[in-house]
Order: sequence, then C-alpha cells, then structure tokens
Amino acid sequence: MNEMRSPDLSLVEAQSETPEAYVKVKDLEVRFVSREATVKAVNGVSFELKKGEVLCVIGESGSGKSVMMRSLLQLHAKKRTRMTGEMRVGEHDIMKVTEKRMSELRGSTISMIFQEPMTALDPLYTIGDQIAETVMRHERVDRDAGWKRALELLELVRVPSPERRLKAYPHELSGGLRQRAMIAVALSCRPSLLLADEPTTALDASVQIQVLVLLRKLQREMGMSMIFVTHDLGVAAQIADKVAVMYAGRIIEYGNARDVLMHPEHPYTRAMLSSTIKDQDRSAPLDTIAGTPPDLRALPDGCSFAPRCKYAGPECLAAMPPEVTDGRNHMARCVRVSAVRGLLAFEPGLAAANVPA
Ligand SMILES: Nc1ncnc2c1ncn2[C@@H]1O[C@H](COP(=O)(O)OP(=O)(O)OP(=O)(O)O)[C@@H](O)[C@H]1O
Ligand code: SF4
Ligand SMILES: [Mg+2]
Repeated sequence: MNEMRSPDLSLVEAQSETPEAYVKVKDLEVRFVSREATVKAVNGVSFELKKGEVLCVIGESGSGKSVMMRSLLQLHAKKRTRMTGEMRVGEHDIMKVTEKRMSELRGSTISMIFQEPMTALDPLYTIGDQIAETVMRHERVDRDAGWKRALELLELVRVPSPERRLKAYPHELSGGLRQRAMIAVALSCRPSLLLADEPTTALDASVQIQVLVLLRKLQREMGMSMIFVTHDLGVAAQIADKVAVMYAGRIIEYGNARDVLMHPEHPYTRAMLSSTIKDQDRSAPLDTIAGTPPDLRALPDGCSFAPRCKYAGPECLAAMPPEVTDGRNHMARCVRVSAVRGLLAFEPGLAAANVPA
C-alpha cells in the first residue's frame, strides 16, 4: 500500500451548499473480461457531486479509483470491458452518448489530469501547439486565437516566461512545469468537470503543494466540479468537500470531508486513518493494515474487508453489508454501523440488528 499521510483537520473547510447534483453516478459496475478471468474492478459505485464541489477518492492501490475515473471519460477498451449502471455529467448520459459525442466531451466538458504528464503530453509537439490544437479543435477558432489562449493559460497556471515555454517541447521542462503545462491543457476548454488522478505524486513535496494550491484556486475561480484521487489524506483534508473511501471496487464510506476524516465509522477507514504518520516517531515503522486486498477475479460473498477486519463475524460473510446513511449523508457499508440519533456510530456488538433478513 502507498504511504498514507495524515490529514491536518484544522484545514477542513466549511461546506458550501449549491442546489443540485451536476455529476450523478449510480450502481456503476466495470468488468474487464478476458479468456482467463473476469476482473471485477468497480462493483456498484454511486455518488453525486454538485457544481463547484470537490470529491476526494482515497483507498489502497488496486481499489478501483482510476478505473472509476476513466469510466467517466469512457476510456476503457470497449472490446474487453463491460460497464453497467448510470453516469450523468450535466445533461450528458455518459453510458449512452455516441463515441463521436464522447470525443467532443473529452477535454471540453470533462477533462483529466494524469499522474505522469509525459503520458498525456505528446513529446513531438511543443506545449503551445498542444494547447492551441485542443482549443482549435473544441472551440473552432483559428490558429492565432488558439496560440493566444495557450499563452493566457500558461500565465494562468503561473508558468514563468510563458512565451518562451510555449515553444518548448515537454522534455525541455522540469517535472513541476510539465505538470502545470498538463493542467493548462486540461483547462484549455474550460471544463465543468475536472478529473485529477494523483496529479502531484510524481513531484517533490514543495512543488506538490504549489501545484495543489493552484489547482484548488483555479477550481474555485472556474466553478468546476472536481474528482481528485489521492493517497495523501492531508491533501484530501485540504481540498475536499466530500470524501469517498474505496475498497475492492466499492465505496465503503462516503460523506462530508469533516465527517469521514474526523469521525470515520467503517473499520477500514478507521484503520487507514490510524496507520498514517501523524504524531508518530518518523523513524518507527508505520502501522499497516494486516493482510492484502482481495483478488478482484474471485471476490467472496459478503464484506470484502472481512479477511482483514478484527471485528469480522459470520454475519459479515452472509451478504454484502447494506449502506447505512445518517441525516448528514454520511454513509458506511458495515454491519456494525448504525445511525444513532441522526449520526453514524460503529458498535462492535451490533451485527445482528443490521443484517438484512
Ligand atoms: N484494463 C484492465 N484490464 C484488467 N484489469 C484491470 C485493467 N485496468 C485495471 N485493472 C485492474 O482493476 C483493479 C483496479 O485498478 P485501478 O487502476 O483502478 O486501481 P487504483 O485504485 O487506481 O490503484 P492505484 O492507487 O495503484 O492507482 C486492479 O486490480 C487492476 O489490476
Ligand atoms: S461488515 Fe464485518 S468484516 Fe466488514 S468491516 Fe464491518 S465488521 Fe468488519
Ligand atoms: Mg490509480
């Protein structure tokens, strides 16, 4: 598992309420089918995101975070992928749009920032060409207007000497500048949904913070919704309005950042938060969650976390634990969690009451 960094909870911000969901994902399932096996990568993911909100998705390596994000852009190879459920972004029904329409939406309405900019930037074209080309294609403007916008975007993402950098090739830029250039490409057509899949993990810590602060500022200024995947709980605490915790292709805890990070109720979220490096002697080995994530080719019935959970009992294996949600939309999927006086509460002895008949 990648190292999780602890959240500075003083930085969790008050929630801003806006009227209705802009992104709606319901019961999303993604299967990768081959002759040898079927990988159940996403197993019934549902969430909603309002305009201007930031959802942080956290969870161990292999829990389905990237597959879920790439689904929103229909980036999986059609031949080997089975997707069911609903995905809506604004008025667009992502499950039903044609490939032609989807390619128009990619980079305009929905845009993605990848972990490693070299995989997203074309090494054969200058930064200016790449941004201008995206603008020309989506906004049907001429080359001069495309280049003018490219310059504005490099200024927006605070690339120093932007005129010179427009004519540079990706390999001529430092890691931090390449990441900024990729953000400029992603923002070039003013997306309303920005997907950021661990966009700063390849950078030094000090550059990471600069890029994150910039990203959050641009997200606010442009009123974009953003889904942000991170292994860093400190980052989640700083930028998220909502947090979703994924395990074995499912969201096992979800809610306002403050609720999930300060009052985690699912045993996996609790274990993950307590295995962070906060308040620990940095020379001491980190607590880790014992065991390994399940094999997505052969998921057992019931709670996927059971083999690693110290509270597991037979009732946890009988069926998939139902979602339990409190009055604040804080959800956990565990038979030992219930809503008590309007708030979620974990009780080790609760199982029987929560097991569906
Ligand atoms: N094209 C594919 N074909 C088959 N299996 C795949 C494919 N893409 C992803 N997987 C599998 O789906 C599971 C989820 O992968 P995913 O990349 O979403 O994990 P993740 O949560 O993003 O992990 P990380 O934190 O390491 O990026 C993994 O077991 C992965 O091996
Ligand atoms: S359902 Fe059971 S095994 Fe799963 S997290 Fe809850 S207590 Fe642990
Ligand atoms: Mg990933």
